[in-house]
This record gives sequence, C-alpha cells and structure tokens, in this order.
Amino acid sequence: MLIVIADNMEESVVLAIQEIGQVKYKPEDLKQALGDADALIVRSATKVTKDLIENTETLKLVIRAGVGIDNIDKDACKEKGIEVRNTPGASANAVAELVLGVMISGLRNVQKAQWQMKNGKWDKKHLTGYEISGKTLGIIGYGRIGSMLAKKAHGLGMKIIAFSPHPRISDEIGEYVEDFDQFLQRADVISLHVPALPNTIGMINKESIAKMKDTAYIINTSRGEIIDEGALYEACKNGKLLGAALDVYPNEPYSGKLLELDNVSFTPHIGAATKEAQNRIGEEVIAILKEKN
Ligand code: MLT
Repeated sequence: MLIVIADNMEESVVLAIQEIGQVKYKPEDLKQALGDADALIVRSATKVTKDLIENTETLKLVIRAGVGIDNIDKDACKEKGIEVRNTPGASANAVAELVLGVMISGLRNVQKAQWQMKNGKWDKKHLTGYEISGKTLGIIGYGRIGSMLAKKAHGLGMKIIAFSPHPRISDEIGEYVEDFDQFLQRADVISLHVPALPNTIGMINKESIAKMKDTAYIINTSRGEIIDEGALYEACKNGKLLGAALDVYPNEPYSGKLLELDNVSFTPHIGAATKEAQNRIGEEVIAILKEKN
C-alpha cells in the first residue's frame, strides 16, 4: 500500500503508518505523488480538489484526520470511485473541553483581566462576571461533540437545551427545543457544533442575534461560516451580546475586524489540538488503513 500523508501528523502516528505500507510524507508535488498512491491522508490544510486527484488511477481512499470533510470535494472523489473517511469521534472531548474553557474564561473576563494587568491596570470593579452554574447552555448541533459538551456542562450545573437543523437527536440531558426562536430566547450561552452546510451557513445573523438575550455569549468551535461576521461585530460592539469566543473563522488565518473587540476572545482553530486527540485521530486513521489493506 502506498500512502501519501499530505499534512503534519504526530511522529508516532507516521511511524505506525509506515508499518502498514510505504509512506510519502508531505511530498513537494502532491499531485504527482498521488499518481501511484493507494491512500491519501489529509488534515484541514490540504484541499482535495477535482484537479488534485484528476491524474490518479490508483487512489482508492482519502482519510480526513479530523471531523470536518469540507476541504474534500466529495463528488469528485465519488466520480473516481475514491472512498472518503474521517475520524469523527476522536476530537470530541478536546473540543468540548475547549468550549468549557473559553466559556468560563469569557464569563469571568479572564482574558480581558490578563490584558489589563499586562498593561499595568488593576480594574477589579469592572471585571465582575457571571457564573455558569444554573445558566442555560444552548447547543446547536447535538452530535458527538454537542452531546459530550452537554454531559460535561450539565455536570457543572448548567441546564442544557439543544437545537438541531437536522433530524432530532436528543438524550436525557439535553432538552430538545424544536422552535429556533424559543431556543435563542432561552439560552444564556450558545455553542455551535454544526458543519457548514447551506442550511447552517449564516444561521447566526442579525435576525437570530436580535432574538437572543442581551447577556448571551456565543461560542464557535465548528466552522466560521455559521456566523455572519458583520452581525456579530455589531452585536458585541453595541452591547447586544455579552460577547463571543471564536476558534474558527470564514478565512483562516483570521485578521478581521472582530479582533478590535475586547469582549470577543480568539483561538486559532485549536479545538482538536490536544496530544490526546491527535493520538486518538492517529489510532482511528491506522484502524481505517488496516481495514482497507
Ligand atoms: C475538524 O474538523 O476536525 C476540526 O475542525 C479540527 C481541524 O480541522 O483541525
């Protein structure tokens, strides 16, 4: 089996993959390397386009080491009989923990306080925040990540409501709210866990934000396109929202106007970036390769 790894992977994972087949790691000319490859492994950096795979007659498998497969042209793969797989469960815990971290940090003004102190300011009286216990966490998208987040947040004393643009999925922790407007009105914190699809892109926009509480806090660790950037900017700037925590952006690396705002916190798409998640992703990738070998 000739396996091409196009993006960075943990060294231990690369070594384990080398035991399954011959590996070309981050080849300079990816398109050429795919000429006689059996499998291609990508993370989010490589875009698997029609053009990239047009010359290969041998490629049978593309593995996205991660959850979102929006960097892969699935139709082009299908046309060429190439199977597309991902590692859906591996990073759920890492993302859920990041959401909890930025939620508490945002509601308690941790980042703001840090910047102030680094600039010599001791402004204790303007840093009064909110507790998460007793608050309602609204989770949009109740799949692996959403439901794992629900369990953890429930354990910390939060009430959980869930909304899904796809068929209803629920459990004993999350109360499914069918009406989106009611969901928006009830949530103190809203966390997004949906892929970027025609019915989710821009679902957090001027109209939906208008229905939220003025003290609502939005967290996005899914895909940047779900939020209308201009609407979020206006709402956070004008006190319509308490603030937001963003890990994903429509264009990455992000350098847009939201960076001006003190009540928005930023991380550079690190939801899945834990040692444990990367190891689990590696294990899932290896299991898929073994299954196909
Ligand atoms: C994913 O889809 O797996 C996450 O967004 C993480 C990533 O792409 O790095």
